[in-house]
Amino acid sequence: MPNDFAFEMAASNLRYGPGVTDEVGMDLGDLGARRALVLCDPGLTDLSPGRTVRAALDREGVEYAFFDSIRVEPTDASMLEAIDFALGSGKLDAIVAVGGGSTIDTAKAVNLYTTYPADFLDYVNPPIGKGKPVPGPLKPLIAIPTTAGTGSETTGVSIFDFAKLHAKTGIAHRRLKPTLGLVDPENTRSLPPSVAASTGLDVLSHAIESYTATPFDTRPRPERPVLRPAYQGANPISDIWAIESLRMAAEYLVRTVEDPSDDEARGRMILASAYAGMGFGNAGVHLPHGMSYPVSGMVRDYRPEGYEVEHALVPHGTSVILNAPAVFRFTSSACPERHLRAAAVLGADTEGAQLEDAGEILASQIIALMRRLNMPNGLSALGYTPEDIPKLVEGTLPQHRLTKISPRRASAEDLARIFADAMSYE
Ligand SMILES: NC(=O)c1ccc[n+]([C@@H]2O[C@H](COP(=O)([O-])OP(=O)(O)OC[C@H]3O[C@@H](n4cnc5c(N)ncnc54)[C@H](O)[C@@H]3O)[C@@H](O)[C@H]2O)c1
Repeated sequence: MPNDFAFEMAASNLRYGPGVTDEVGMDLGDLGARRALVLCDPGLTDLSPGRTVRAALDREGVEYAFFDSIRVEPTDASMLEAIDFALGSGKLDAIVAVGGGSTIDTAKAVNLYTTYPADFLDYVNPPIGKGKPVPGPLKPLIAIPTTAGTGSETTGVSIFDFAKLHAKTGIAHRRLKPTLGLVDPENTRSLPPSVAASTGLDVLSHAIESYTATPFDTRPRPERPVLRPAYQGANPISDIWAIESLRMAAEYLVRTVEDPSDDEARGRMILASAYAGMGFGNAGVHLPHGMSYPVSGMVRDYRPEGYEVEHALVPHGTSVILNAPAVFRFTSSACPERHLRAAAVLGADTEGAQLEDAGEILASQIIALMRRLNMPNGLSALGYTPEDIPKLVEGTLPQHRLTKISPRRASAEDLARIFADAMSYE
């Protein structure tokens, strides 16, 4: 099979502006939607983003069913609950998701399974699910992010925790992409600092992972263009989004965490999140994300500050960034220039640096930022011990969609060493 020679750029339509959430009722009207489903998580129902959406629909006379029991860090069961609610809600012409990645990802699954009902695993990524393609167009979905993190408003990816395996997996198809993302910096004003930190570090990792992913022309060429994966590998278009989002995160993340009233910083960070989404949505993410899925799924009793939920959870951004320094130490030999450039964009002094030090320079830069943002210092701070490593490796190995675009192939033994390195950082 010859290598691929082409790459494709796909993203949702986006509209950016402070206060743009208020336009959602008019957007639904213009789409011809008479009755919509509005989804949000319970923490947001009475905060400004949730209230603004409902007021905007009321004003424009758009009827809606309202579901605010989205689980933060969704599971297969919580997605099925939202799907059942939608199926029992009568005719729906459109969906509005107002919330973080948990809500927007749940909305994508609701859209898919209410339009093309199927066994839940049918569309889920192989080898866990059957990986069937989305059969046709879906209902209009308007995504309104309230975190500056996942970039889910731009991507065709929906992630959930598959409880049986204690690891995350997902559904990935371009047709899942929201029709429109309303990117409104007013919506992140109420983010607790710890959530702003964790979600912002997710942006940073999206950018570095997509920039360091294996290049698109090292993958086999698909038989038909429709079979070209969304996670194609690094390419010249996604590089631009990745580097610019990294530059913005380097400049504005600490400011948003330390001062939520800093309008300029919040505006830039929610844009950085969407930019990183455009990059990784077309290039992909690799080992830090692949390894994060069992880190989240195997959680025991970790209860992070700022997350108002009843269950134990490892916030997504935290589960990713704790692996990142150890991963980049491992992957840098495959493309040291790119690791060094990412470190420089993050503010490291790379003048005269040796390429063989690129991984360590990038890792140190990330560790310093994690400290500044009060992140837990490695997986041991979440309660993991070296005895957990075999299970963490086992949960990473099925994440083919991600692990295969790592610039350096990681065997089970390599993953075990990377997890050991990620237990704590000096
Ligand atoms: N689809 C994708 O491309 C993609 C990419 C990365 C991550 N994800 C997934 O997204 C999920 C994580 O999403 P997330 O990090 O955006 O967070 P989240 O949606 O899980 O929300 C985190 C917490 O912040 C609260 N919150 C959200 N917005 C708030 C606001 N404006 N004010 C006050 N509180 C607010 C929520 O109530 C919740 O307690 C994970 O399941 C992850 O796997 C998806």
